[in-house]
Amino acid sequence: MGKDVIVACDFSSAEAVYGFLDKFTGETKPFVKIGMELYYAKGPQIVRQIKARGHKIFLDLKLHDIPNTVKKAMAVLSGLDVDIVNLHAAGTTAMMEAALEGLTRPDGTRPLLIAVTQLTSTDQQSMERDLLIHKPMDQVVLHYAETAKKAGLDGVVCSPLEAGKVHERCGAEFLTVTPGVRFADGDKGDQKRVMTPAEAKKIGSDYIVVGRPITAAADPVAAYQQCVAEFVD
Ligand code: C5P
Repeated sequence: MGKDVIVACDFSSAEAVYGFLDKFTGETKPFVKIGMELYYAKGPQIVRQIKARGHKIFLDLKLHDIPNTVKKAMAVLSGLDVDIVNLHAAGTTAMMEAALEGLTRPDGTRPLLIAVTQLTSTDQQSMERDLLIHKPMDQVVLHYAETAKKAGLDGVVCSPLEAGKVHERCGAEFLTVTPGVRFADGDKGDQKRVMTPAEAKKIGSDYIVVGRPITAAADPVAAYQQCVAEFVD
């Protein structure tokens, strides 16, 4: 898969999601991210329905449990025929390897599997105080990325500001999927460290995850097309 814009469909009802997706007529079928809120509200059926409409799907459920449980859960998610799924690298190598095993279908195919390193809501202070991790955040993030790569994963979710360093450490093929994207003239909302789609392209992000700059735009289709023009074309 090449560079693409993934739209974060952070809606709580099926009506709201379809109201949004229906604006895209014709050939354009954005790659969408479905997160916990929509999945827990509407279940696997909404994933199947959106897939049946022709969208690629990043199912952002961030699994983290004992290896056997994650392996079995991943086998179920693999049956949904999504394109990308994720987990927490903090679950350790054994959990990541088990996840890959569960995800791989009998014919050898599987969705891409990427890891969350440290959540961007975790800062240095809370990592030291609550997790007793005393290394600098950027070292921790790169170490988790490297561990994910060694376990056989395809990439990580990270800030666009970290994408270049992740590629340096883990190679150009290791995917960086980056939220925290805003248009140059746009509202940052609650995102603190942001980049424009053009900057994310320059620094080497493979996929940008964009929510409100598209979903809350006066013209969502135009906003999506602007993202694609800046990031992909
Ligand atoms: O609306 P916005 O563009 O901020 O949406 C970004 C999406 O990426 C949201 O679904 C958010 O939960 C997700 N995300 C993030 N930062 C992370 C991981 C995920 O913003 N570190």
